[in-house]
Amino acid sequence: MCGIIGYTGNRELINILTDGLKRLEYRGYDSAGLAVVNNQQLQVFKTKGKVKALEERLHDHLQLLSTASVGIAHTRWATHGEPNEANAHPHLDNAGHFAVVHNGIIDNFAELRNRLLDQGCRFASETDSEVLAHLVAQYYDGNLLEAVASALKQVKGTFGIAVIARDLPQTIVTARRGSPIVIGVGAGETLIASDVTALAAHTDRVIYLNDDDIALVTPETIDIRSLENVPVSREIAALDWDISAAEKNGYDHFMLKEIFEQPQAVSNTIRGRLDFRTATAALSGLNLTPRELAMINRIVIAACGTSMHAGMVGEYYFEDIVGISTEVEQAAEFRYRNPIIEPHTLVLAISQSGETADTLAAVREGLNKGAVVAAICNVVGATIPRESNRGIYLHAGPEIGVASTKAFTCQVTALLLTALLFGRNRRLSQTAGLELIEEIQQIPTLIQQVLDHADKIEIIAKKYADAKDCFFIGRGNLYPAALEGALKLKEISYIHAEGYHAAELKHGPIALLDKGVPVIALANDVPGKEKILSNIQECLARKSPVIATATNNDTSVSHLVHDVITIPSCSAFVAPIPTVVALQLFSYYVAKERGCEIDQPRNLAKSVTVE
Ligand code: AGP
Repeated sequence: MCGIIGYTGNRELINILTDGLKRLEYRGYDSAGLAVVNNQQLQVFKTKGKVKALEERLHDHLQLLSTASVGIAHTRWATHGEPNEANAHPHLDNAGHFAVVHNGIIDNFAELRNRLLDQGCRFASETDSEVLAHLVAQYYDGNLLEAVASALKQVKGTFGIAVIARDLPQTIVTARRGSPIVIGVGAGETLIASDVTALAAHTDRVIYLNDDDIALVTPETIDIRSLENVPVSREIAALDWDISAAEKNGYDHFMLKEIFEQPQAVSNTIRGRLDFRTATAALSGLNLTPRELAMINRIVIAACGTSMHAGMVGEYYFEDIVGISTEVEQAAEFRYRNPIIEPHTLVLAISQSGETADTLAAVREGLNKGAVVAAICNVVGATIPRESNRGIYLHAGPEIGVASTKAFTCQVTALLLTALLFGRNRRLSQTAGLELIEEIQQIPTLIQQVLDHADKIEIIAKKYADAKDCFFIGRGNLYPAALEGALKLKEISYIHAEGYHAAELKHGPIALLDKGVPVIALANDVPGKEKILSNIQECLARKSPVIATATNNDTSVSHLVHDVITIPSCSAFVAPIPTVVALQLFSYYVAKERGCEIDQPRNLAKSVTVE
């Protein structure tokens, strides 16, 4: 939920820190700050607002700061304490000896804070994170790594932290539990960050810390240990990242760029994974033999938000194509409700970031109960795929916009590939497998056909940009598509939007319909269309304007409704993908018309690494 970056080396570090924060801003952006060691002193600059505000605060001090040798920085998504300068990180101990930046939640912070207050500490903020600075100061006896380890052993909760000390001009101590930390290995310099987006401009060699790893880094050394101070070795991974992929490249927003990247992104997900000879999918990352595949008798999909909606589409695939009992669980529910898991249950964790706390906990619950656990993820080396130890990477490229777009279409594609694999391992014939392969190959083209009519969708979107409330309704696997469309609209335009199964509307929600409440009805020419036409009539009878998605030239829909968003003809299996792309565009243009902050909507963060 927050972004952290640290640098130790011989280059001027202020721009490295602020540029890194800008690449991490999608993780949180309500306040920002940095601390550097300069001539044996800690110098701290903090602001409410975005990194840009911090840069303005630093502007008159750049000359003075040019001699700084080590620094840490933080962009915040508030958990404890409102977004303001006092609550911005870094936090210091009372003597100004140590500076700490923290991503995570300290569950027992009240107990620690009261104990520290009783011991005479003075607090400058309302945050949980500040207790770390005071604890480090209490334990410090000349060894910073040991002091930080001792402080962290008092903590219940999650942390990704970095600590510097005014008398250690080239040292950073960093550690993680539940919130990611990656070390960037440079030439005569070392960086640490919450994720690789902040490191890719400086190095292609990274080390992912595991939970309860702690590291002391200098420009030339990286010493990784357990919190019990036992040395551990972590491999240096190659970062195959094109930093330009994390630029807007001429688009007004990252979200629009990522919507238009979807044909290529989905092609990347598919690439190398279609086995025409045996009409199946080649998903070696699942690391399951045909016999192990055949033993799976139940699938539980655990995810959050957009990823959960993708999982809901996957449920239709696994039950309809494969015949395996499948259920989708909101990850936070799964982790706490003591789920029934047998040895032949597959727990499939879906997460774009691979760092969502609730989904990570679901992975751990599945592993603890002996399930086969696999991840579908877009960030190589993220915690969820690493701990799942098997899965499918989307290869969609970085998704910077907080509203998830290409992740959804790539996740659904990955789920369809997985259903093909399981299906051919069971009753799906070679012929049916080849037919499904053809449909999968068509997905990028279907998406492109929707994108080619973005201008028409923009015209429709502008008509409804003043709505206060809005419904999305769908049936079959277009029901999750309706949920996803509602999530997109509400999170970037701030219009109250609800996704409902079309049949559910008359069981209460229809009471809300009137001429000021538009309904987006997913009326593609797939099984169930006749039923949704009746639902459209029910909405029209309550004076709601109806915008329908409809398959090319389907006059049975266009004659009924106020506006039509055309979706290319395709099979029911893949229909959610082009349909959701159209809804992404609809939401984007509504939000743009309303002048909303599309890439970084209020109150949100890209990766929810706290409960
Ligand atoms: C999607 O637009 C949202 N930003 C959010 O629901 C997101 O999908 C959810 O937080 C899950 O994130 P993950 O896929 O990285 O686990």
